[in-house]
Amino acid sequence: MIVTAIYTFFIIGVCAFVLSFNWKTKRLYTNYTLIPYRIPILGHLFDFLKDANQFIFDNFAKYGSIFTANICGQRFTFLLDVHDLLTMTKNPSLVFSGSEMVTTIFGSRRVEKDIQEDIAQVLHKTIYPQTLQRSDALNALTVRFVESFHQSLEKDRMSSNEEWRQCTLFDLCHRFIFGASTRALFGDIEDEELKELETNFVTFNDKFYVFSRGLPVWFYKLFYRSAYQAREKGIKLLIKQRPNQSEFITAAREFYEEKHGDVFSPTDVGARMMIFFWASLGNTIPATFWVLYYLLTTDKGRVLEVLRDEILTHGENMNEMKVADSVINETLRLIGNVFLMRCTYKEDGTSLDLHDGRQLHIHPKDLVCYYPTISHYDKSIFPDPYKFQYDRFLHLDKLPGSYMPFGIGKSMCPGRFFVRNEVKTILITLVKEIELELVDFNYQQRPRFRKECVGTGVMVPDRDVKVRYRFKKQ
Ligand code: HEM
Repeated sequence: MIVTAIYTFFIIGVCAFVLSFNWKTKRLYTNYTLIPYRIPILGHLFDFLKDANQFIFDNFAKYGSIFTANICGQRFTFLLDVHDLLTMTKNPSLVFSGSEMVTTIFGSRRVEKDIQEDIAQVLHKTIYPQTLQRSDALNALTVRFVESFHQSLEKDRMSSNEEWRQCTLFDLCHRFIFGASTRALFGDIEDEELKELETNFVTFNDKFYVFSRGLPVWFYKLFYRSAYQAREKGIKLLIKQRPNQSEFITAAREFYEEKHGDVFSPTDVGARMMIFFWASLGNTIPATFWVLYYLLTTDKGRVLEVLRDEILTHGENMNEMKVADSVINETLRLIGNVFLMRCTYKEDGTSLDLHDGRQLHIHPKDLVCYYPTISHYDKSIFPDPYKFQYDRFLHLDKLPGSYMPFGIGKSMCPGRFFVRNEVKTILITLVKEIELELVDFNYQQRPRFRKECVGTGVMVPDRDVKVRYRFKKQ
């Protein structure tokens, strides 16, 4: 009884706070469409959690390229015309909202603005380019991945006796990527600890989409307890340094511990490691699933034959794998799915001059959000947009400006070259070492996208596909 009363007062308190916040901020706006909502506190939360993709496409059709949604008191202004994208990303007063997001998603400590700026500056200007993007560092990281991948593949080969093994495609991709990527980045992790990390990753990752909505911490503790706890356990496991860490993780750890050791406790550093850990896996595993899925289901596996020719012609030189690049690009066009968000720290907000002459004022508490999926499926840019065309990107000198599965500007994914090499490693293995086939595949029951996971980077399949594989005779 008492608990219920406390709980009721708590909810009423939160409602009052959010309502007063909304009332105060509402008056500041004149030039956008605030989509009407029926539930006062939660606003569009349920529509958004249920199927954000549909929500955005429906409102795009209804209100045009600018509209604002209210999700638990947080305003999201969607700016969906690709012609306004550069205006948004080049406005110096609009910054990547990542610092706010990482505190809610990954439980990292909220830090002062100047520290946050220093972190962003050092990561983007020094650590990412030097350890993930420069070709020697990228090659070294790729070699670590390939070695670790082959070690686990060898174990599998030894135990399988070159017999067919049945499993599901997502599980297979998870197995291909998880251990090899984690060891390549975080060093020599004991099998048992890796297993523990994996269990916690899977539990947290399953509910990652809710964490990515930037809701208050109490919401997760109350309604998503096991995912929240899995994240905390993962953080604990990542506090520990392991021998043979990658250059990237070593540099990032040293930076947090030495430069900001007075602000960051070991747990805070663990939470920062959690960001890299999830970022390196959360999108890579489903992306690999979709690459293999499209290869297996398109033109009766003919694309695999084209890839085979390419690999046999150019050896294993990943830079020469142009067909593989086109396959990866086309897959990410179809399933890449991210919200590119910006916010402003300026007290009086900022304004954007839009391509059609309108001006959009952005309040400091607003998040501005571009959704690249709109242009990925725009038939004037990508004809026959719902079709997987493996060679669509093959004849382009550079990627079109409206293609951005890895984000844009300063916050663009620094792992985008590494993930290509991971996928290419798997493609080379498929061509040279493994036979992989669909089992009982029924097109009517093909996987579609998990609707609630929209916006987290890559669409997650809503069901798995049965496959079988066996090692080719050596
Ligand atoms: C298909 C796989 C991947 C996709 C689709 C992807 C996509 C993205 C996107 C969209 C962002 C945020 C960009 C923004 O909001 O503007 C991002 C950030 C990031 N990604 Fe990736 N990513 C992938 C794989 C990887 C891998 C393998 C790594 C491994 C190192 C990685 C490391 C990161 C990091 C560290 C950030 C945060 C950058 C920052 O500090 O702002 N990603 N990724």
